[in-house]
Amino acid sequence: MKIAVIGGTGLIGSRVVGILKANGHDAVAHSRATGVDLRSGQGVPQALKGADVVVNLTKPEKFDESALVFFRETMENLLLAAEDAEVGHLVILSIVGAEKVPDLVYYQARVLQEKILEQSDIPYSIVRSTQFFEFIETVLSWTSDDTAVRLPAVLMQPIAAADVARTVAAVAVTGPLEETRNIAGPEVHPLDNLGRMTLAARGDERPVITDPDAGFFSVANGVALIADESTLLTETTFRHWLTS
Ligand SMILES: NC(=O)c1ccc[n+]([C@@H]2O[C@H](COP(=O)([O-])OP(=O)(O)OC[C@H]3O[C@@H](n4cnc5c(N)ncnc54)[C@H](OP(=O)(O)O)[C@@H]3O)[C@@H](O)[C@H]2O)c1
Repeated sequence: MKIAVIGGTGLIGSRVVGILKANGHDAVAHSRATGVDLRSGQGVPQALKGADVVVNLTKPEKFDESALVFFRETMENLLLAAEDAEVGHLVILSIVGAEKVPDLVYYQARVLQEKILEQSDIPYSIVRSTQFFEFIETVLSWTSDDTAVRLPAVLMQPIAAADVARTVAAVAVTGPLEETRNIAGPEVHPLDNLGRMTLAARGDERPVITDPDAGFFSVANGVALIADESTLLTETTFRHWLTS
Protein backbone atom coordinates (compact mmCIF):
# COMPACT_ATOMS: atom_id res chain seq x y z
CA MET A 1 0.00 0.00 0.00
CA LYS A 2 1.30 3.51 -0.78
CA ILE A 3 0.89 5.72 2.29
CA ALA A 4 1.74 9.43 2.53
CA VAL A 5 2.40 10.46 6.14
CA ILE A 6 2.17 14.26 6.50
CA GLY A 7 3.98 15.19 9.71
CA GLY A 8 5.95 12.00 9.12
CA THR A 9 9.12 13.49 10.64
CA GLY A 10 7.52 14.15 14.06
CA LEU A 11 7.30 12.12 17.28
CA ILE A 12 4.38 9.94 16.15
CA GLY A 13 4.87 10.33 12.39
CA SER A 14 8.43 8.99 12.32
CA ARG A 15 7.31 5.94 14.31
CA VAL A 16 4.28 5.38 12.05
CA VAL A 17 6.47 5.52 8.93
CA GLY A 18 8.92 3.04 10.51
CA ILE A 19 6.15 0.56 11.40
CA LEU A 20 4.52 0.80 7.97
CA LYS A 21 7.83 0.29 6.16
CA ALA A 22 8.69 -2.66 8.42
CA ASN A 23 5.37 -4.20 7.36
CA GLY A 24 6.25 -3.86 3.68
CA HIS A 25 4.27 -0.73 2.83
CA ASP A 26 5.52 2.10 0.66
CA ALA A 27 5.28 4.78 3.37
CA VAL A 28 6.76 8.24 2.76
CA ALA A 29 7.31 10.93 5.41
CA HIS A 30 6.37 14.47 4.40
CA SER A 31 6.69 17.77 6.29
CA ARG A 32 7.92 21.30 5.71
CA ALA A 33 11.45 19.89 6.09
CA THR A 34 10.85 17.74 2.98
CA GLY A 35 9.19 20.60 1.06
CA VAL A 36 5.54 19.86 1.87
CA ASP A 37 3.63 22.65 3.65
CA LEU A 38 0.04 21.75 4.45
CA ARG A 39 -0.67 25.34 5.46
CA SER A 40 0.27 26.94 2.12
CA GLY A 41 -0.48 23.80 0.10
CA GLN A 42 3.04 23.77 -1.34
CA GLY A 43 4.10 20.27 -2.44
CA VAL A 44 0.88 18.62 -1.23
CA PRO A 45 -0.43 17.39 -4.64
CA GLN A 46 2.96 15.82 -5.38
CA ALA A 47 3.05 14.17 -1.92
CA LEU A 48 -0.40 12.62 -2.42
CA LYS A 49 0.17 11.43 -6.01
CA GLY A 50 -0.62 7.71 -6.18
CA ALA A 51 -1.24 7.42 -2.42
CA ASP A 52 -3.88 4.92 -1.30
CA VAL A 53 -3.88 6.33 2.23
CA VAL A 54 -2.92 9.69 3.74
CA VAL A 55 -2.12 10.04 7.44
CA ASN A 56 -2.10 13.61 8.78
CA LEU A 57 0.01 13.98 11.95
CA THR A 58 0.78 17.68 11.74
CA LYS A 59 0.33 20.17 14.53
CA PRO A 60 0.81 23.93 14.81
CA GLU A 61 3.67 25.56 16.72
CA LYS A 62 1.33 27.34 19.16
CA PHE A 63 -1.64 26.12 21.21
CA ASP A 64 -3.44 29.51 21.07
CA GLU A 65 -6.17 30.98 18.80
CA SER A 66 -3.92 30.51 15.76
CA ALA A 67 -4.51 26.75 16.08
CA LEU A 68 -8.08 27.25 14.83
CA VAL A 69 -6.75 28.78 11.60
CA PHE A 70 -4.03 26.11 11.32
CA PHE A 71 -6.39 23.14 11.55
CA ARG A 72 -9.03 24.72 9.26
CA GLU A 73 -6.55 25.71 6.54
CA THR A 74 -4.51 22.51 6.68
CA MET A 75 -7.55 20.23 6.57
CA GLU A 76 -9.15 22.18 3.73
CA ASN A 77 -5.91 22.07 1.71
CA LEU A 78 -5.47 18.37 2.44
CA LEU A 79 -9.05 17.46 1.50
CA LEU A 80 -8.86 19.33 -1.83
CA ALA A 81 -5.62 17.57 -2.72
CA ALA A 82 -6.95 14.19 -1.49
CA GLU A 83 -10.04 14.50 -3.70
CA ASP A 84 -7.90 15.38 -6.74
CA ALA A 85 -5.59 12.44 -6.04
CA GLU A 86 -8.55 10.11 -5.40
CA VAL A 87 -7.14 9.06 -2.03
CA GLY A 88 -9.19 6.21 -0.57
CA HIS A 89 -8.58 6.83 3.15
CA LEU A 90 -7.55 9.81 5.27
CA VAL A 91 -6.47 9.34 8.91
CA ILE A 92 -6.03 12.04 11.57
CA LEU A 93 -4.86 11.82 15.19
CA SER A 94 -6.90 13.91 17.63
CA ILE A 95 -7.33 14.07 21.42
CA VAL A 96 -9.58 12.07 23.77
CA GLY A 97 -12.18 14.34 25.37
CA ALA A 98 -11.36 17.36 23.17
CA GLU A 99 -15.00 18.50 23.19
CA LYS A 100 -15.13 18.26 27.00
CA VAL A 101 -12.60 21.05 27.55
CA PRO A 102 -14.15 24.02 25.71
CA ASP A 103 -11.92 26.50 27.55
CA LEU A 104 -8.88 25.15 25.72
CA VAL A 105 -8.90 26.77 22.29
CA TYR A 106 -6.42 24.14 21.05
CA TYR A 107 -8.97 21.43 21.85
CA GLN A 108 -11.71 23.44 20.09
CA ALA A 109 -9.39 23.48 17.08
CA ARG A 110 -9.11 19.67 17.17
CA VAL A 111 -12.91 19.33 17.25
CA LEU A 112 -13.08 21.71 14.27
CA GLN A 113 -10.52 19.57 12.38
CA GLU A 114 -12.55 16.42 13.09
CA LYS A 115 -15.79 18.05 11.89
CA ILE A 116 -14.20 19.24 8.63
CA LEU A 117 -13.03 15.68 7.95
CA GLU A 118 -16.33 14.04 8.94
CA GLN A 119 -18.25 16.37 6.62
CA SER A 120 -15.99 15.65 3.63
CA ASP A 121 -16.53 13.00 0.96
CA ILE A 122 -13.20 11.29 1.68
CA PRO A 123 -13.38 7.95 3.55
CA TYR A 124 -11.78 8.62 6.91
CA SER A 125 -10.62 7.39 10.30
CA ILE A 126 -10.17 9.53 13.41
CA VAL A 127 -7.90 8.13 16.10
CA ARG A 128 -8.24 10.00 19.40
CA SER A 129 -5.45 9.55 21.91
CA THR A 130 -4.85 10.74 25.45
CA GLN A 131 -1.72 12.78 26.25
CA PHE A 132 1.57 11.14 25.29
CA PHE A 133 4.07 10.16 28.03
CA GLU A 134 6.62 12.17 26.05
CA PHE A 135 4.43 15.30 26.38
CA ILE A 136 4.47 15.35 30.21
CA GLU A 137 8.02 16.77 30.19
CA THR A 138 6.82 19.71 28.06
CA VAL A 139 3.84 20.28 30.36
CA LEU A 140 6.19 20.42 33.37
CA SER A 141 8.41 22.96 31.68
CA TRP A 142 5.52 25.44 31.25
CA THR A 143 5.00 25.91 35.00
CA SER A 144 8.40 25.31 36.54
CA ASP A 145 11.24 27.49 37.75
CA ASP A 146 14.55 26.75 39.47
CA THR A 147 12.87 26.00 42.80
CA ALA A 148 9.59 24.16 42.09
CA VAL A 149 7.08 22.82 39.57
CA ARG A 150 3.41 23.75 39.91
CA LEU A 151 0.78 21.42 38.46
CA PRO A 152 -2.95 20.82 38.94
CA ALA A 153 -4.20 17.40 40.09
CA VAL A 154 -6.27 16.99 36.90
CA LEU A 155 -6.81 13.32 36.04
CA MET A 156 -4.90 11.99 33.03
CA GLN A 157 -4.51 8.58 31.40
CA PRO A 158 -1.34 9.08 29.38
CA ILE A 159 -0.07 6.74 26.69
CA ALA A 160 3.30 5.84 25.14
CA ALA A 161 3.97 7.42 21.73
CA ALA A 162 5.06 3.98 20.51
CA ASP A 163 1.61 2.55 21.39
CA VAL A 164 -0.12 5.47 19.64
CA ALA A 165 1.99 4.95 16.53
CA ARG A 166 1.18 1.22 16.43
CA THR A 167 -2.55 1.99 16.54
CA VAL A 168 -2.36 4.74 13.91
CA ALA A 169 -0.35 2.47 11.58
CA ALA A 170 -2.83 -0.40 12.04
CA VAL A 171 -5.83 1.86 11.38
CA ALA A 172 -4.14 3.32 8.29
CA VAL A 173 -3.89 -0.08 6.61
CA THR A 174 -7.19 -1.58 7.82
CA GLY A 175 -9.60 1.39 7.71
CA PRO A 176 -11.46 3.51 6.78
CA LEU A 177 -13.38 3.27 10.04
CA GLU A 178 -15.78 6.15 9.19
CA GLU A 179 -15.77 6.85 12.92
CA THR A 180 -13.56 7.65 15.87
CA ARG A 181 -11.37 5.15 17.74
CA ASN A 182 -10.28 6.23 21.24
CA ILE A 183 -7.02 4.95 22.74
CA ALA A 184 -5.49 5.53 26.18
CA GLY A 185 -2.79 4.19 28.47
CA PRO A 186 -3.58 1.60 31.14
CA GLU A 187 -3.54 3.85 34.24
CA VAL A 188 -5.14 7.06 35.48
CA HIS A 189 -2.85 9.46 37.39
CA PRO A 190 -3.33 13.02 38.63
CA LEU A 191 -1.03 15.31 36.62
CA ASP A 192 0.83 16.52 39.74
CA ASN A 193 1.76 12.89 40.50
CA LEU A 194 2.96 12.35 36.93
CA GLY A 195 5.19 15.36 37.54
CA ARG A 196 6.53 13.88 40.79
CA MET A 197 7.27 10.53 39.10
CA THR A 198 9.05 12.30 36.23
CA LEU A 199 11.26 14.42 38.50
CA ALA A 200 12.07 11.45 40.75
CA ALA A 201 13.06 9.30 37.74
CA ARG A 202 15.70 11.82 36.72
CA GLY A 203 16.87 12.67 40.25
CA ASP A 204 15.44 16.19 40.17
CA GLU A 205 14.75 17.15 43.78
CA ARG A 206 12.45 20.10 43.13
CA PRO A 207 9.03 19.71 44.77
CA VAL A 208 5.83 19.55 42.73
CA ILE A 209 3.32 21.92 44.31
CA THR A 210 -0.31 21.00 43.63
CA ASP A 211 -1.87 24.14 42.19
CA PRO A 212 -5.36 23.95 40.64
CA ASP A 213 -4.68 27.14 38.65
CA ALA A 214 -1.31 26.15 37.17
CA GLY A 215 -0.87 25.97 33.45
CA PHE A 216 -2.57 24.68 30.33
CA PHE A 217 -4.52 21.80 31.92
CA SER A 218 -5.97 23.76 34.85
CA VAL A 219 -9.23 24.19 32.90
CA ALA A 220 -9.76 20.44 32.38
CA ASN A 221 -12.22 19.18 34.96
CA GLY A 222 -13.19 15.80 36.39
CA VAL A 223 -12.88 12.92 33.96
CA ALA A 224 -12.71 15.02 30.76
CA LEU A 225 -9.29 13.70 29.68
CA ILE A 226 -9.58 10.04 30.63
CA ALA A 227 -10.89 6.96 28.87
CA ASP A 228 -14.56 6.01 28.65
CA GLU A 229 -15.91 2.49 28.09
CA SER A 230 -15.39 2.75 24.31
CA THR A 231 -11.64 3.30 24.67
CA LEU A 232 -8.97 0.74 23.76
CA LEU A 233 -6.37 0.57 26.52
CA THR A 234 -2.71 -0.02 25.70
CA GLU A 235 -0.22 -1.87 27.93
CA THR A 236 2.81 0.31 28.62
CA THR A 237 2.61 1.99 32.04
CA PHE A 238 4.10 5.42 32.74
CA ARG A 239 6.42 4.01 35.42
CA HIS A 240 7.70 1.26 33.10
CA TRP A 241 8.27 3.83 30.32
CA LEU A 242 10.12 6.19 32.70
CA THR A 243 12.53 3.47 33.76
CA SER A 244 13.11 1.81 30.39
N1 LIG B 1 1.06 15.60 22.54
C1 LIG B 1 0.03 14.86 22.90
O1 LIG B 1 -0.05 14.41 24.06
C2 LIG B 1 -1.05 14.53 21.88
C3 LIG B 1 -2.19 13.82 22.28
C4 LIG B 1 -3.15 13.48 21.32
C5 LIG B 1 -2.95 13.87 19.98
N2 LIG B 1 -1.84 14.59 19.62
C6 LIG B 1 -1.67 14.94 18.20
O2 LIG B 1 -0.83 13.98 17.58
C7 LIG B 1 -0.28 14.54 16.38
C8 LIG B 1 1.21 14.21 16.30
O3 LIG B 1 1.88 14.84 17.38
P1 LIG B 1 3.46 14.83 17.49
O4 LIG B 1 3.80 15.00 18.93
O5 LIG B 1 4.02 13.67 16.73
O6 LIG B 1 3.83 16.18 16.74
P2 LIG B 1 5.29 16.70 16.37
O7 LIG B 1 6.36 15.80 16.88
O8 LIG B 1 5.34 18.15 16.75
O9 LIG B 1 5.33 16.59 14.78
C9 LIG B 1 4.56 17.44 13.99
C10 LIG B 1 4.89 17.13 12.54
O10 LIG B 1 4.11 18.00 11.70
C11 LIG B 1 4.98 18.62 10.75
N3 LIG B 1 4.36 19.89 10.39
C12 LIG B 1 4.07 20.95 11.20
N4 LIG B 1 3.50 21.94 10.48
C13 LIG B 1 3.40 21.48 9.20
C14 LIG B 1 2.91 22.03 8.00
N5 LIG B 1 2.40 23.28 7.95
N6 LIG B 1 2.97 21.28 6.86
C15 LIG B 1 3.50 20.02 6.88
N7 LIG B 1 3.98 19.45 8.00
C16 LIG B 1 3.94 20.18 9.15
C17 LIG B 1 6.33 18.72 11.48
O11 LIG B 1 7.46 18.80 10.62
P3 LIG B 1 8.03 20.21 10.04
O12 LIG B 1 8.29 21.08 11.23
O13 LIG B 1 9.23 19.81 9.26
O14 LIG B 1 6.96 20.75 9.18
C18 LIG B 1 6.35 17.35 12.17
O15 LIG B 1 6.73 16.34 11.25
C19 LIG B 1 -0.58 16.04 16.44
O16 LIG B 1 -1.67 16.33 15.62
C20 LIG B 1 -0.94 16.24 17.92
O17 LIG B 1 -1.76 17.36 18.13
C21 LIG B 1 -0.89 14.92 20.54
